[in-house]
Order: sequence, then structure tokens, then C-alpha cells
Amino acid sequence: MRLKNKIALITAAASGMGRAGALLFAKEGAKVVAVDIDSGGAEAVAQEVTGAGGEAIAVAADLTKDAEAKRIVHAAVDGFGGLDVVWNHVGHPGPGRIEGVDMADYELAMDLNIRSVMVTTAEALPALRARGGGSVLFTASIAGLAGSPFSPIYSAAKYGVVGLMQSMACRYAPENIRMNAVCPAPIDTPMLNVFLQRPDTQTNREENRARMMQAIPLGRVGRPEEVAAAALFLCSEEASFITGVALPVDGGYVAK
Ligand SMILES: NC(=O)c1ccc[n+]([C@@H]2O[C@H](COP(=O)([O-])OP(=O)(O)OC[C@H]3O[C@@H](n4cnc5c(N)ncnc54)[C@H](O)[C@@H]3O)[C@@H](O)[C@H]2O)c1
Repeated sequence: MRLKNKIALITAAASGMGRAGALLFAKEGAKVVAVDIDSGGAEAVAQEVTGAGGEAIAVAADLTKDAEAKRIVHAAVDGFGGLDVVWNHVGHPGPGRIEGVDMADYELAMDLNIRSVMVTTAEALPALRARGGGSVLFTASIAGLAGSPFSPIYSAAKYGVVGLMQSMACRYAPENIRMNAVCPAPIDTPMLNVFLQRPDTQTNREENRARMMQAIPLGRVGRPEEVAAAALFLCSEEASFITGVALPVDGGYVAK
């Protein structure tokens, strides 16, 4: 078991990659704290974990609020007695264009993609230190490694996530706290539909999906479990000499 006796907090854990991560991390021995604004969804994931013989608790939180982004850390420490792994998976697509941009949507994207993950990480540092180190993972995107014509604010935010992660990786390495990011290409989750409906009013969802797949050398979108597997590796001791890495999980997209 690759996370035996580790306590792992995962945000946006009720759906998609976060849910896949919660199930996989628990299967690998972690006690999982599943955080989501969707309390019923988070509870369902925690029950799925316990039903399979693992350990998990659900924590409902709106991570746009600083107090909630901090509270989840204490829920983990109070619930399981410490913290070893934080997967800051929460994010938001933001506006599809800068012309006529809805500033409330801009702020939501910046708040959820950058502010909330920074607040949670800062709050988690004392708990990680208390265990002699730990691992913090961020979910960026291929849009955090290359421009994204129909998601400019999202791209700016995810580049920001990568910069934040690399800066903190350098800063906290002496304390044995590793920081890395996964950078997924399109992955089959509810959020993918937001991206597929965007490109322009002339193309429909299926055309957009076909175009997206053409841009990926492996010729398909990814599965949540494939990102969870990369997340598990980066959070485990197998990656003990890896910090500051933004790992594409993208079917070859950024290699093209
Ligand atoms: N799906 C993709 O194609 C894709 C690609 C690259 C990166 N990402 C990134 O992956 C992450 C999530 O994506 P997913 O595809 O697994 O999503 P998803 O749509 O399956 O799930 C998103 C989850 O976030 C939760 N959430 C939304 N707002 C929240 C808030 N304010 N507080 C707490 N939880 C909240 C939702 O309730 C939901 O359970 C984001 O960071 C996103 O930017 C997604």
C-alpha cells in the first residue's frame, strides 16, 4: 500500500478526478478527508470508501471562502489526528473570453483556482511540519503549460497555480514538504462539458469534442482514474525525490 497510515485531504472530491483520487488513495491505505461544496456528494464518496473497507470522512465546504478553505485543514487534523497529504484539486473554468468579460466570473476563477489553494496550503503547513514533512499536490491543467484560446482566464489562473507551486516547492523543500502539480488534458468529468460548449457559436459540442481529440496524440480524452494514478504517484514515497514538477497527464498534448 503506497499511502499506508497517511492522512490525505482532497478537495473537489465529490466528482470526477477528486472522487477517483479519494477512492484510490483510500485503497492504498490513506485515511481520506473528502471535501466538497456538494455535501451529499462528498458524503457518498466517504461512504463508498468505508463500504470498500477504507477510512474516510466527508467535509462540506465552499472553498471560495477563506475561513472554509482553512477550516478543512482542522477538520482533517481533528478527524484523523494529523495531515500528510493535501491534494488541492478544486478549480473553476472561468469566462470563455476577455471581451465583455463578466468580472464576477473572473474573480470566481481566480479565487477558486489560486486564492483558495494558497489559503488551504498555508493553513496546512504547520500540520505537515508536525509530521516531519508531507506532500502537497495541485491540479493545474495543460492550460497552465500552454495558451488556451477559449479559456484565457482559466489559463492565466492555472499558470499561476504552477508558479505558486514551484515557488513553494523551493521554499519548503528544506522542511521535507514536497509540492507538485498534475496538468490534465480534457478529462471525462462534468467540468469537461463546460469547456466543450465554449469554442464558438458555430460549432456544437460533438464537433468540439472531435477537434479536442484530434489535438491529443493518444486520440481520446482522459479518464479520471488516469489522473488519480498520477496524483497517487506524486503524493507517495515513490516520488520522494520529486518536487516542483508540473506533470502533464495529457495523452501527449503538450509534446505536440
Ligand atoms: N475535466 C477536465 O477536463 C479538466 C482538465 C484539466 C484540469 N481540470 C481541473 O480539475 C479540477 C476539477 O475538475 P474535475 O473535472 O474533476 O471536476 P468535476 O466537475 O468532476 O468536479 C468538480 C467538483 O468541484 C466541486 N466544487 C465546485 N465549486 C466548489 C467550491 N466553491 N468549493 C468546494 N468544492 C467545489 C463541485 O461540487 C464538484 O464536485 C479543477 O481544478 C479543474 O480546473 C479539469
